[in-house]
Amino acid sequence: MRAITVQDREAGVSGLTLSELPHPHAAENDVIVEVHAAGFIPNELEWPGTWTDRAGRDRTPSVPGHELSGVVTELGYGTTGLTVGQRVFGVTDWTRNGSLAQYTAVEARNLAPLPAGIDHVTAAALPISGLTAWQALFDHAHLTVGQSVLIHGAAGGVGSIAVQLAHEAGARVIGTGRAADRDTALGLGADVFVDLPAEGLDGIGEVDVVFDVLGGDILARSTQLVRPGGTLVTAAEPVTVQPRDGRAVFFVVEPDRVRLADLAQRLRDGRLKPIVGDVRPLGEAAAAFTPEKRTPGKTIIRVVED
Ligand SMILES: NC(=O)c1ccc[n+]([C@@H]2O[C@H](COP(=O)([O-])OP(=O)(O)OC[C@H]3O[C@@H](n4cnc5c(N)ncnc54)[C@H](OP(=O)(O)O)[C@@H]3O)[C@@H](O)[C@H]2O)c1
Repeated sequence: MRAITVQDREAGVSGLTLSELPHPHAAENDVIVEVHAAGFIPNELEWPGTWTDRAGRDRTPSVPGHELSGVVTELGYGTTGLTVGQRVFGVTDWTRNGSLAQYTAVEARNLAPLPAGIDHVTAAALPISGLTAWQALFDHAHLTVGQSVLIHGAAGGVGSIAVQLAHEAGARVIGTGRAADRDTALGLGADVFVDLPAEGLDGIGEVDVVFDVLGGDILARSTQLVRPGGTLVTAAEPVTVQPRDGRAVFFVVEPDRVRLADLAQRLRDGRLKPIVGDVRPLGEAAAAFTPEKRTPGKTIIRVVED
């Protein structure tokens, strides 16, 4: 089968290669999915799991990409809950070969059925962004109706979903980003937009929840915006500065079939809309990691023309 692989850690994105790999093996509780569309996170080549397995052993050449939408073609021994021929979407394991391939082996529990009426390209934009946004706002920060939330990167993959979920939950949403992101963030439900490079954080005041995906100095300075008893949650990097009288949480997204199904239902109902950006064929995946011109929204690799 054709797949995008990486072998040389030092080479970074320039080491992404279109390769021929053996068909994957379905282990116990796995399914094999024929990937129709796949998503990736631009900085995932920096993640340890791209290079080593859970025991820390080298696993190159490895296949990046951890979001997919496709069709089940095979079940491993003991696999229940999904059937051959079923349309599914979800997340692949961090320390196994991923979704930038014609086929991938993935634990069935990491996938949810894909409802009719949702195309594979749209579905592939949802798993990591959707689960990360949900888990940040509601599992870690316990955001509730009437609270205020500051969402950094509000027009990005994760932030754009977070804005929609927080707005629907009845929170007051302040989105941040660059000047060009203003209309997108406001259109998704942000009450206020802050152009970070131009306006900085100074005029924002205190909020109940900060959701950060940018890290660095923005993360550190955002701790000062957390109201007493509030929470800062970040998906970017471990937190080194704590809010004065609040919690700070760094987390890595976890697969969750039930939540994936809920997100798909919201999408089907028209209550949630992932922003799909550039859509490219598998052969152009390497170029898609470092585009000359960035298209707003989630970049998707279309593996099968539906
Ligand atoms: N821990 C986890 O489980 C987890 C899960 C998912 C994602 N993540 C991490 O979360 C981060 C964001 O992911 P994503 O998919 O949402 O990325 P994304 O689609 O690139 O979104 C980031 C957004 O923030 C904007 N931005 C970046 N730097 C900015 C700055 N200095 N000022 C204002 N706006 C800025 C970007 O604009 P431009 O495109 O114009 O730069 C973009 O709109 C990544 O680092 C990813 O690794 C972590």
